Amino acid sequence: MLENHVTLHDGEKVFIRPLKVEHASLYPDFLAEVTPDDLRLRFFAPMREANPELIDKLIHYDPEHAMAFIAIAETSGRMLGVVRLHDDPGGDGGEFAILVRSQLKGHGLGWLMMKHMITYAQEKGLETVHGQVLAENTTMLQMCAELGFHVAEEASERGVKVVTLPLHELPTLTAH
Ligand SMILES: CC(C)(COP(=O)(O)OP(=O)(O)OC[C@H]1O[C@@H](n2cnc3c(N)ncnc32)[C@H](O)[C@@H]1OP(=O)(O)O)[C@@H](O)C(=O)NCCC(=O)NCCS
Repeated sequence: MLENHVTLHDGEKVFIRPLKVEHASLYPDFLAEVTPDDLRLRFFAPMREANPELIDKLIHYDPEHAMAFIAIAETSGRMLGVVRLHDDPGGDGGEFAILVRSQLKGHGLGWLMMKHMITYAQEKGLETVHGQVLAENTTMLQMCAELGFHVAEEASERGVKVVTLPLHELPTLTAH
């Protein structure tokens, strides 16, 4: 599944689709509305704002080894969130990362994007998806637990948890 139309808790209609180079112009407005704290939860480093080099890297991913989905508000055309999945080198898993526009947190978009990414990974035939989450990021850890992820300490980094979802344990998900 590459594209999906979803509705948030507040009724907002959102189109989730693969991120393409032509979406580059939506990124600055999106990241300008992500708080420094949320940027730190996503990138694990203090950041007042994302620099052009980082945006360029996020947009020009290698489609052979990675996928990114963008969420676009159907009425305004604004970028509301992004979830990425990068293949493990030589493995059967993928590492995800997700970011939602800060003012939109709690409206259900993160959950829907995670389900979209998980369904894509299942259809791709991956065995697991996993991600790193700061231990203080209780919203994300709780959401992952509700989605069926196992949560463990990251051996190599203090204060970081690794969340892993074995896809063969799951029924095929639908994004609704
Ligand atoms: C973490 C993050 C992605 C969550 O996104 P979000 O859109 O705010 O999350 P949602 O609104 O979908 O879900 C959050 C809540 O709803 C629950 N939820 C949402 N939709 C649901 C559904 N359909 N069924 C059951 N539970 C649902 C979640 O478990 C969670 O519970 P809570 O609000 O009671 O705490 C977002 O806060 C974010 O971008 N944070 C900064 C970056 C980050 O932390 N990234 C993670 C590391 S890669």
